Amino acid sequence: MKKDLGVEPLLAPMPVLMIATYGDDDKVDVMNMAWGGICGSTQVVLNISEGHKTSENLRKRGAFTLSPATGATMKESDFFGIASGNTMADKFEKSGYHAVKSKNVDAPVIEEYPFTLECKVDEIVEGKTCLHVYGDIVNVLADESLLGADGAIDIKKLDPLVFDTFQRGYFHLGDEAGKAWNAGADLAKK
Ligand SMILES: Cc1cc2nc3c(=O)[nH]c(=O)nc-3n(C[C@H](O)[C@H](O)[C@H](O)COP(=O)(O)O)c2cc1C
Repeated sequence: MKKDLGVEPLLAPMPVLMIATYGDDDKVDVMNMAWGGICGSTQVVLNISEGHKTSENLRKRGAFTLSPATGATMKESDFFGIASGNTMADKFEKSGYHAVKSKNVDAPVIEEYPFTLECKVDEIVEGKTCLHVYGDIVNVLADESLLGADGAIDIKKLDPLVFDTFQRGYFHLGDEAGKAWNAGADLAKK
């Protein structure tokens, strides 16, 4: 028996993405975003409310970096989703984190996050309930410590947090359940 839950944005898990931008005077801001992700082979989309400091920065500077929150960065990452650069002038400084300017886009790279997409804003679309910011991926930065023996990124080393939309929890990943394009291969042969 299934129960109707109505119209709710209940799709879980979601990612926990840190969106870093520059404001006026190169002031660094970072916000927490669950409603974003890959939307094409070279693009990401950010679904963001109009009133955030980050929204203003995205319009003014046309660039951002996107880094998954990790187990080691949970406290600061959650803080980036509670405080706003609109009302807390030293929001980024309060986190104790460090930023360097991206070599590729007009946005900061936050040193404490080991994996980062550097992106340029392609288009900002005013959607029904929020802005949809399409970004071109210009480069991907990965800390060498994330690489496995085969040179690929080891997701367990990254330890990305996932967001439980149902009960607002941050979770670590569990064990690998199977290989994609493989776990169902037997059925495809029938
Ligand atoms: C887990 C979590 C997920 C969030 N996801 C989003 C999101 O997808 N879009 C959005 O506009 N705000 C989201 N927020 C809220 C912003 O992170 C928050 O309003 C933040 O203070 C904005 O910072 P800023 O004003 O400095 O840009 C989320 C917050 C949390 C804690």
